[in-house]
Amino acid sequence: MHMPGHKRQAIAGGGLPLELDITEISGFDNLHQPEGILQQSMQQAATLYGAKQSYFLVNGSSGGILAGICTACKPHSTIIMARGCHKSVYHAVELRQLTPVYLCAELDETFGVAKSITPEQVKQALAAYPDAALVLLTSPTYEGVISDIASIAELCHAHRIPLMVDEAHGAHLGFSPRFSGGAVAAGADIVIQSLHKTFPSPTQTAIAHRNGDLINAKEFARQLSIFQTSSPSYLLMAGIDDCLHFVQKNQSELFDAYVQRLDTFSQAMVQLKHLRILCHGKDRFENHGGFFAFDQGKIVISTRSTSLTGTQLKDRLRDEFCIELEMAMGDYALAMTSICDTDEMMQRLTDALLAIDATLSPAQTPLPLTVSLPPMHLAPWQAQLEDSAIVSLQDAENEICAESIWAYPPGIPLITAGECITSDFLCQIRLLLEQGVELYAQTSDFPHQIAIVLR
Ligand SMILES: Cc1ncc(COP(=O)(O)O)c(C=O)c1O
Repeated sequence: MHMPGHKRQAIAGGGLPLELDITEISGFDNLHQPEGILQQSMQQAATLYGAKQSYFLVNGSSGGILAGICTACKPHSTIIMARGCHKSVYHAVELRQLTPVYLCAELDETFGVAKSITPEQVKQALAAYPDAALVLLTSPTYEGVISDIASIAELCHAHRIPLMVDEAHGAHLGFSPRFSGGAVAAGADIVIQSLHKTFPSPTQTAIAHRNGDLINAKEFARQLSIFQTSSPSYLLMAGIDDCLHFVQKNQSELFDAYVQRLDTFSQAMVQLKHLRILCHGKDRFENHGGFFAFDQGKIVISTRSTSLTGTQLKDRLRDEFCIELEMAMGDYALAMTSICDTDEMMQRLTDALLAIDATLSPAQTPLPLTVSLPPMHLAPWQAQLEDSAIVSLQDAENEICAESIWAYPPGIPLITAGECITSDFLCQIRLLLEQGVELYAQTSDFPHQIAIVLR
């Protein structure tokens, strides 16, 4: 006589495994006050990752990111953060009314993706803002670029400032010598990983890790219970538990096969004449001086100097070969791999890329614009509190933006509320739209219109 209302009877479950969908009945513990099976399972996860404490997340990395930032940052404090952070970071910045200090990664000259954030950049920011409450980086990035977290953690800790790493794309790091660069082992204080992105775990499942003594454990647990539902799904939590046991039990077999599949793919990609694949095929990690490390599981396919845009490549793979990629930007597209791809799947991707490449000829394509960061006139939260108006894009130049604009994926803002709508920004938007990249805004009917602060 308790929830859920389906009573584990699949009368309208559409084939879902409702018999497994239980709730906090006796013997089944409580995620928000773990003392039994969930606590035990989370302790096993902490041992597996080498963390002091691990927490299951049922609201994706997004929930963990919001909770981590709100734990480390008192309202109105300063956060030193990579500009290329996911929008959940920006949401926390807005909620907590923080002042962001951005670390901008340089763009790789040949592929146009963001390089690593360097320890030197962090050192300079720490010297300029020694009272910052938190340093936050994304590593690996969506495209697989990893930063030197160990050196950066050391710099932060010398100032007693915690380091949080959004490792949403890196739950698999550290499970094989070929996938190094994990932030828990490197000493970050909070690390957030989406298990559903690179591991066999259901959508929405993620995990947070806490290390060291700079993050208050009680406050982190309290913040997690604010940002997570009071009815966490046992289907999702069982999915996490199963996933981690499966990976631990079959670790070397799974990762050896994965590395083998990627190596075979990489060797075949040497035959490409026009498309290029980041750190695979003819391209080498050594060509990218600005990368500290790279996750070879990310297949970034550059269409630069061909007649295709990234979006057109994504469309051709879908329409002609039934292969759906993870994302496409101006002149590249991204295929995500994991330990669960099969040899056959990788072979199909290989054949499709070679077939498309054979139809291409060299072309002059516009180089992506190097857009300087739009000047910040107001902190994002201040801009959100101001009166705003919706105007057409062509009337918006030099106005202060009142919303965030992003491409999804990857969900990284191109501009945020409080920043100036520069002519550079407008050119970048036009180019991305021409290249077929879909852009989204928080409030306006973008790209026809945009929200501006009324002055
Ligand atoms: C870098 C990064 N961080 C965080 C997230 C949010 O992860 P989740 O979807 O698990 O909430 C994403 C999602 O795409 C992401 O790319």
